[in-house]
Amino acid sequence: MKATTLKKALITGITGQDGSYLTKFLLDKGYKVHGIVPRGEVECKGRLFNVLDHPHLTLHDGDMLDGASLHRVLMTVQPDEIYNLAAQSHVGFSFHAPEYTANVNGLGTARLLEAMRLLCPNARFYQASSSELFGNAPAPQCETTNMVPCSPYAAAKLYAYSMVQIARKSYKLHASNGILFNHESPLRGEDFVTRKVTKAVAAIKVGTQNILELGNLDARRDWGHAADYVRGMWMMLQQDQPDDYILASGESHSVRYLVEAAFKVVNINITWQGRFTEEQGRDQKTGKVLVRINRDLYRPNDVHHLCGDASKAREVLGWQPAVSFDDLISEMVEEDMRFALQNKRAETIILKAENAA
Ligand code: NAP
Ligand code: GDD
Repeated sequence: MKATTLKKALITGITGQDGSYLTKFLLDKGYKVHGIVPRGEVECKGRLFNVLDHPHLTLHDGDMLDGASLHRVLMTVQPDEIYNLAAQSHVGFSFHAPEYTANVNGLGTARLLEAMRLLCPNARFYQASSSELFGNAPAPQCETTNMVPCSPYAAAKLYAYSMVQIARKSYKLHASNGILFNHESPLRGEDFVTRKVTKAVAAIKVGTQNILELGNLDARRDWGHAADYVRGMWMMLQQDQPDDYILASGESHSVRYLVEAAFKVVNINITWQGRFTEEQGRDQKTGKVLVRINRDLYRPNDVHHLCGDASKAREVLGWQPAVSFDDLISEMVEEDMRFALQNKRAETIILKAENAA
């Protein structure tokens, strides 16, 4: 019998939200998955908890800031597909660290593309581009909408996006940009607004937190589920020709609406009073203030409205998101409720033990 060789995928940013969903997706498809982990940090592998022992998963030390480490990994692995997900991915933080963000997100991508060109030019390359590229261009945004970055994060991602197109045109590399709108999950980092909200809602419900502080409530985003979006990444690399595609749900909501939707999952109705930085969200039943504005959480320059038109991905790739906004938020709140109750139980046991001692 002829032995079949498994396809090899290399993922940068494997320990992030998308990295963990993509790893599971590719392992289920029968790939051998290799991941690059910066600083070999064991505690960062938490999101990979359910696949860490998988025989087809291998982690390598490497850093987007260190070209030699990328060369070493590409030389060793010789991947068929490369998914470049690594980034300093927090837009707000990029205003505090513009140079670092440019180095990881922008130059890091150039380093990886150059390593691929020299060491495995027949591999296929996926770049994690972002709807942030559009800045405040009017919604809905599609592949031909003007890109007007509003943050150091977006500026660095625009450089990376262009380098992918340059590699494609100059060297005929199979390199594609996925221009992804916001996508979330219970594994989302706690600094992003969806997870910050769902975690706070759960903690407020179980009584371990009193109030949720937020910045701009008027910003609107097109929020989908990460599981749907990693499937789209893979679909892009299965095409004969490389190209750029938007993945989006086509629906947008304000941060204020997100807060209402998340509290509704635990049967709390929020009513709003006051304007601008004086605005407060109260529990309709008790009158207690549960949400308030913290001016420090505003960005120096924010993107007001992102809502994507994913017609091209639908028509060419056959991609469609399966999870609705309401189901996404319910899943996240329910998962955070589980954690919040576990934590509360653990705290009670410790307190009892301390009192008994
Ligand atoms: P994430 O959870 O923040 O994950 C980012 C990953 O990059 C982490 O594994 C992180 O590792 C790694 N990383 C950071 N600096 C690195 C470095 N110098 N070298 C190697 N790895 C490094 O982000 P995500 O939400 O999964 O997003 C994945 C990618 O898609 C990112 O490029 C993001 O900018 C882009 N994107 C995300 C969305 C979205 O809505 N989620 C939308 C559009 C585009 P450590 O944690 O160990 O630092
Ligand atoms: N993080 C955060 N924290 N955002 C807040 C808060 C808060 O307390 N209060 C209001 N917001 C607003 C932000 O100002 C922004 O307008 C919106 O909520 C969404 O913020 P994030 O969840 O941090 O996501 P993002 O849209 O800036 O960036 C995410 O999506 C991009 C794709 O559009 C990240 O995943 C990026 O990496 C990704 O490229």
